[in-house]
Amino acid sequence: MALQFDTRYPSIDDLRIKAKKKIPKFAFEYLDGGCNEDVNIKRNTSELREVQLKPTYLKTHHGSSLKTTLFGTDYDAPFGIAPVGLQGLMWPNSAEILAKAAFEHNIPFILSTVTTTSIERAAELTEGKAWFQLYHPAEDRLRDDIIKRAEVAGCPVLVILCDVPTFGFRPRDIRNGLAMPPKMTLSNILQVFGRPHWALQTLKYGQPSFDTLKPYMPKGLDLKQLGKFMDATFSGRLYEEKIKPIRDMWKGKLVLKGVASEYDTEEAIRLGIDGIIVSNHGGRQLDAGESTIKPLATIAETYGDKIEVMMDSGLRSGPDVARAMASGAKFTFMGRSFMYGVSALGKRGGDHTISLLKAELQQVMEQLCCERTTDFPNHLIR
Ligand SMILES: Cc1cc2nc3c(=O)[nH]c(=O)nc-3n(C[C@H](O)[C@H](O)[C@H](O)COP(=O)(O)O)c2cc1C
Repeated sequence: MALQFDTRYPSIDDLRIKAKKKIPKFAFEYLDGGCNEDVNIKRNTSELREVQLKPTYLKTHHGSSLKTTLFGTDYDAPFGIAPVGLQGLMWPNSAEILAKAAFEHNIPFILSTVTTTSIERAAELTEGKAWFQLYHPAEDRLRDDIIKRAEVAGCPVLVILCDVPTFGFRPRDIRNGLAMPPKMTLSNILQVFGRPHWALQTLKYGQPSFDTLKPYMPKGLDLKQLGKFMDATFSGRLYEEKIKPIRDMWKGKLVLKGVASEYDTEEAIRLGIDGIIVSNHGGRQLDAGESTIKPLATIAETYGDKIEVMMDSGLRSGPDVARAMASGAKFTFMGRSFMYGVSALGKRGGDHTISLLKAELQQVMEQLCCERTTDFPNHLIR
């Protein structure tokens, strides 16, 4: 097996450990943490890893391919990069690094409304292939303008979010003064001094800013005013009256992210949504909630022929992608894994992480005698 990645970091956990040493504590904790007591984030990975797969060794094997078709588009692997806010805080330019790597590897990259590059820049880097995740604006005019920009930029898929009716309760971020917007407390400044590479890169690329939202933000806001602007601009809770006009306006594929129940899946189907991402926001919203692997199997089995069922939250490896696909996901996404990669390795991080996950997944498929990614369910031990 020819390994196409930096062999010093052969697992996502290696990247996480390196990232922790490389970036300031407040930025690492923002990325790494769940919410409240971190129960849900731990469950996501541990319960996913209870899924077991059965190999078949004596069958003729014609080779395994990671290629997967989603919404009529052929991708080179069944995983993509989930939307992450404030990416430039973890590593300068990281949204751009990941968008470019996703394009080069032909996998989807989803740009968050509140990250540090704009819709237009992400579209340029991916030749119009980036998906866009919309945080729901309180004002219709703003909503329409952002959707129009995504359309003009050529985004094929718009992702709306149902799992942030309120901001998650995250003790570390509260302690670090990072409850959007980041505060430069003395402790945070000292942490920056301890991470000179991060500090130099940040100086080079400038303070991270919300590039997609720049045209709507009054100039010269101080940090406190910026927080108020964000609160006033976005209304988290999504329901029928909010979804309908988006469905009417958006001609491309529409995906609802954050689904964790059969009720919300049925609503999504009724409202004409094309796909759902079964997700709990990587354990950042409801600590008492289920892991995503739990509702996935039922949702995929009951509704998988009516709507594209995808999944994220807790995946950290090729075997994890295989477990999710075997349990019924048509496609998977990861948030932290890619951000650990870029935080650890800078501009090499996107390519490295994607190559690593591809190599791991290829090995699982060959071991199982699974030739196509649609065949994973045949290997599930029920
Ligand atoms: C630091 C961080 C910021 C996030 N910001 C967003 C966001 O702006 N929009 C969004 O839809 N999801 C956001 N998410 C959730 C991810 O899209 C995804 O659901 C989650 O990371 C999946 O779990 P995983 O990190 O275990 O792979 C964020 C996640 C993290 C870790």
